[in-house]
Amino acid sequence: MAWNAEDINLSDIQGFWALPWNEREEAFKVLRRDKPVSWHPDAAVEGSAIEFPVGNGYYALTTYRDVQEASRHPEVFLSGPGAVSTLDLPPEMVEYFSGMISTDNPKHARLRRIVSNAFNPRNVRAVEDSIERLADEVLTRAMTSGTGDFITDVAAPFPLEIICQMMGVPASEFDTVLQCSNVILSNGDPDIIPEGTDPVMAFLEAGATLTGIMEELGAYRIDNPIDDITSSLVNAEIESEKLTKQELASFFVLLVTAGNETTRTAIAHALQAFTEHPEQKQRMVQDYDGLAKTGVDEIVRWASPVIWMRRTLASDYELSGVKLSAGDKVLLFYNSANRDESVFENPYTFDVGRTPNDHYGFGAPGPHFCLGAHLARREITVMWRELLARTPNIHATGAPAQLRSSFVNGIKRLPYSF
Ligand code: HEM
Repeated sequence: MAWNAEDINLSDIQGFWALPWNEREEAFKVLRRDKPVSWHPDAAVEGSAIEFPVGNGYYALTTYRDVQEASRHPEVFLSGPGAVSTLDLPPEMVEYFSGMISTDNPKHARLRRIVSNAFNPRNVRAVEDSIERLADEVLTRAMTSGTGDFITDVAAPFPLEIICQMMGVPASEFDTVLQCSNVILSNGDPDIIPEGTDPVMAFLEAGATLTGIMEELGAYRIDNPIDDITSSLVNAEIESEKLTKQELASFFVLLVTAGNETTRTAIAHALQAFTEHPEQKQRMVQDYDGLAKTGVDEIVRWASPVIWMRRTLASDYELSGVKLSAGDKVLLFYNSANRDESVFENPYTFDVGRTPNDHYGFGAPGPHFCLGAHLARREITVMWRELLARTPNIHATGAPAQLRSSFVNGIKRLPYSF
């Protein structure tokens, strides 16, 4: 398909975001070349009894340079009005569903400090044993009673069980957490929110269910603290004040959703990439330790699991010759920055030895850079090390079912064989 920059509508979830990846890639290539900062209308929320006003649209930043520039200036490009939705939601709803990812300093720094320790490289090394044990359990289950779907057997349960364990969520709740986080990040995909279901109600119910789990866990951990994230959250004090019930719930929703879908997406795209590029898989099989570091970052660049994050301008600013005004919304398209030909040599080549590889899969440098990046890298490294060591012949046997979402580059199903 030959794209014209003027005709590309990035708000068309049913049309544009249902296209195969290669066609979407072509469209972003045209945008980077012809209209690096392009305006798009806001999409209306359809099928819900709750009405949201349709906003004034947003600008899509598609080049590496502009995504970097916006991330470097958080005092102009604010996250507070909402980082994960294009909707102009009421502040209570923004806080409830996205927590610290949608805050700015000084509040952001205070909130981030509470949990940052749990995710620093030293503490991620400390949970290494449980990451390895969970990889072993997940793969043993997959190999003995697998369903033939890589997402169900491997990519979904592994990060889910890790983040749930770090939060102290009991195994009996894993499935509920999985279903709720699917709904919250589904962008209304009809496989996850069936036609006829009110998408906003489904979203609110999923949030309420997760909040219920957090409240029960949290109440217990106030008096029985252990070395898990929930205990540090319920007992944390910011300027001698405890986190409010709402702040606790938001943290929980953010950590379980952010820690889940993204790593799942990266692990799943890796299987697809290794199937399409068997020579790259062979390189990893032959020298996993030598290539793990570059290979895992290439998987994240290739998959770009989070497609965009939003910012809202605090003051006027110019990017790529376009004058943006205070109050304008911009989306930072990480998938497009990660294919920017002015930064990446042969950006459409999957190369497990790619160096340098300063991709923006985890966001661009700035205060909101992914808190879970070390953890995610460890998870992908351990899982693919185990997979390639046990079953070097693993491959996808059919086409991936793409999640119909502009936000998460998800794969819903991927048939596979050892
Ligand atoms: C391959 C896996 C992952 C990818 C691609 C990814 C991607 C991202 C991106 C792009 C951001 C930037 C947000 C922004 O600039 O507004 C982000 C933030 C964040 N990520 Fe990740 N993430 C991954 C794994 C994880 C994991 C395992 C966790 C664990 C809980 C996590 C927790 C977070 C949190 C809490 C934030 C918000 C940080 C803040 O606002 O200060 N992520 N992630």
